[in-house]
Amino acid sequence: MTRETWATRVGFILAAVGSAVGLGNIWRFPWMTAENGGSAFLIVYLGIVLLVGVPGLLGEFVIGRRAKRNPAGALKKLSGSRAWELVGGFSVVTAVILLSFYSVVGGWILRYFLASPTGAYFESPGGYYDSIAFGTTGSVGFGLVFLVLTGIIVFAGVRRGIEVATKVMMPAIVALLLALAGWAFFQPNAMAGYDFYLGADWGYLQANFFDILPAAAGQALFTLSVGAGTMITYASYLGEDRSLPFDGSAIAVLNTFVGVLAGLVVFPLLFSFAPDAAGTSGPGALFVGIAGAFANLPSVGGIPTGILIATLFFGVVTLAALSSSISMLEIPVSFLVDEFGVERKYATGGMLALVSLTMTVNALRPPVFEFIAGTLVDLMLTAGLLAFLLFVGWVLGRDAIDEFAKGASDFGRALASPWLLAVGVLLPLFLLFTLLTGIFGALGMAGAIETWMTVVLSVALGLVAFAGLRGPTSVL
Ligand code: PHE
Repeated sequence: MTRETWATRVGFILAAVGSAVGLGNIWRFPWMTAENGGSAFLIVYLGIVLLVGVPGLLGEFVIGRRAKRNPAGALKKLSGSRAWELVGGFSVVTAVILLSFYSVVGGWILRYFLASPTGAYFESPGGYYDSIAFGTTGSVGFGLVFLVLTGIIVFAGVRRGIEVATKVMMPAIVALLLALAGWAFFQPNAMAGYDFYLGADWGYLQANFFDILPAAAGQALFTLSVGAGTMITYASYLGEDRSLPFDGSAIAVLNTFVGVLAGLVVFPLLFSFAPDAAGTSGPGALFVGIAGAFANLPSVGGIPTGILIATLFFGVVTLAALSSSISMLEIPVSFLVDEFGVERKYATGGMLALVSLTMTVNALRPPVFEFIAGTLVDLMLTAGLLAFLLFVGWVLGRDAIDEFAKGASDFGRALASPWLLAVGVLLPLFLLFTLLTGIFGALGMAGAIETWMTVVLSVALGLVAFAGLRGPTSVL
């Protein structure tokens, strides 16, 4: 059976943007921002998106398009080594873990969307969230519905499912968010919202840099969908004529644009209509805050604006969540299809069954959910991207430059060598440092000595990588 490819040029970009734009931009971002010092976090995060995220995205593209395989198969095919196949397998596991908590939140979103026309949560936003979020049949049930919707799209295939769905969803998301942001601008306390969101707090940043760093890096990778092999998988359905640097930049710009836009909806609303909730953190922040804001919206000329705006908002978020969850499910599905010759429908069904179980654990055990969603996923994405970049720099080497340049403009081609240097040496050191800081932090040992140990270990490991991982075509 021949492998599918994207049907149109924009198909791939929209699918990748669809993957990037998701709950990361709308739900996780305000939560992480509030937990890590507000705008200080935003700056570090944007810097990492640009300097690490985009080159990392291109690294995944290069691997995917060259190998035309899922992440595990790709690393095996390009290196001929079983060890690298296991590394790729790690990202397949990451994808499954991601989807297990993501679908819980997807279920909440779906539920809020369906509850919006009646304003069911308006009475007591906090109470409503507490009553549905975890540990109930509802939290499992809506998670399942969300998974089934995801499964239907993936089941329909790359062209007829993912490409068609994202082509409809992405323009809708952008148009609706623009309308909402325009509307939010006119709300009474919009300025205070912008201020909180966009005003820089350098002092906080300096004092807490080592706490902020791993979270900001994790969030940057999360929002771009890098580190889990999503972009390897999507690029594996790509023809040779696309310019990878162009597509990568377009995806990052669009994702950041939508992310910032979502902030321009969320923060003015919070400050205007739910000021008490504006600083709340934790996974419920968006739900309690934003739902409370909708509840406080006045009726204008007999029209209940709260209900209207709420339905629109949660409708957008549902689309954004689905266009990301399909990219998570596609990783293990393509793994089963490529590596074991399983038919797509059985691969999808089997994976849905597995993720239903892991999702249920997340829905019933809040500490598990919080650990996965708040810490583990950041670390796994950071580790995954670290491995991919070392692979690109030290195993692919010159071949990576070839692949990078294929279909690119002269300008794009000129970036290939500096990119490879960044991807092979600088960024792995940065990611390693971030990863170790994050692990120390998670173990409750973020202190001065640990920080130094982290530096020394990072450099030592970097040197080992430098010496040991050089492949036959390596240029470094
Ligand atoms: N980028 C997605 C979001 O922002 C999440 C995601 C992470 C998707 C990793 C795929 C892989 O919601």
